[in-house]
Amino acid sequence: RKPISLPRLMDMHARGEKITMLTAYDATFAAMADSAGVECILVGDSLGMVCQGRHSTVGVSLDEMRYHTACVARGVRRVQGTAWVVADLPFGSYQQSAEQALASAVVLMEAGAHMVKLEGGGWTTETVRFLTQRGIPVCAHLGLTPQTVHALGGYRVQGRGDGAASTLRQEAKALADAGAQLLVLEMVPTALASALTQELPHCATIGIGAGAGTAGQVLVLHDMLGMNIGKMPKFVRNFMQGQGSIAGAMQAYVQAVKQGQFPVDAEHAWS
Ligand code: KIV
Ligand code: NA
Repeated sequence: RKPISLPRLMDMHARGEKITMLTAYDATFAAMADSAGVECILVGDSLGMVCQGRHSTVGVSLDEMRYHTACVARGVRRVQGTAWVVADLPFGSYQQSAEQALASAVVLMEAGAHMVKLEGGGWTTETVRFLTQRGIPVCAHLGLTPQTVHALGGYRVQGRGDGAASTLRQEAKALADAGAQLLVLEMVPTALASALTQELPHCATIGIGAGAGTAGQVLVLHDMLGMNIGKMPKFVRNFMQGQGSIAGAMQAYVQAVKQGQFPVDAEHAWS
């Protein structure tokens, strides 16, 4: 197996082969996800909830992200893995200036990330350009952006209605023009996410609660293993069901996404 690269991911997008992504926060789960054939591992700041017991991602620090990114990167190397490692820039580590974002991104890249992810559109466009021009691959994230949950007023569907949809579309295009090559769409209506996927040939959309029409899918690892201490979001499927092992659940996820059997729009998405 050859390591996953950006050209490989863009080629999958062009051919319509679904890209699979799962979060991981430590070496063992990262190695297992890699071995199950997951192309992209996200060191998500969802570790604030999953590992740290917080109510939101807002309190997660750059040093904590650096630590978990290093753990994941080591896990992938241990199994001579091929996964593309994406690490979240946490709240407060990129909002101040493009220079601040660069310094924070360097910390995560030096810890072993191949790409950094940041949330939001509009003002983030120039930051994305600044990073990509300096050789740092960027994954953008639109729709429900958990770091700004307090400003959004809760965890709910975004981009509904003509005005909100056209704003999201403009932000997505600007981010892709600025060099973002992956774009997480979280809790976005299926039709909008599908249309954007077609409209952005050089930026692969990765959906979570965004329907089956995106270039790829992502889930929080613990959610898809049925390990959830809070409310299970409707866009999750418990892949442990019918499986005897975590490795089996991960393989079932990869297979279901590749074959278009997950997500099911009527069950896991919004219109
Ligand atoms: O932190 C995270 O796990 C994420 C995904 C839900 C996309 O950002
Ligand atoms: Na995140």
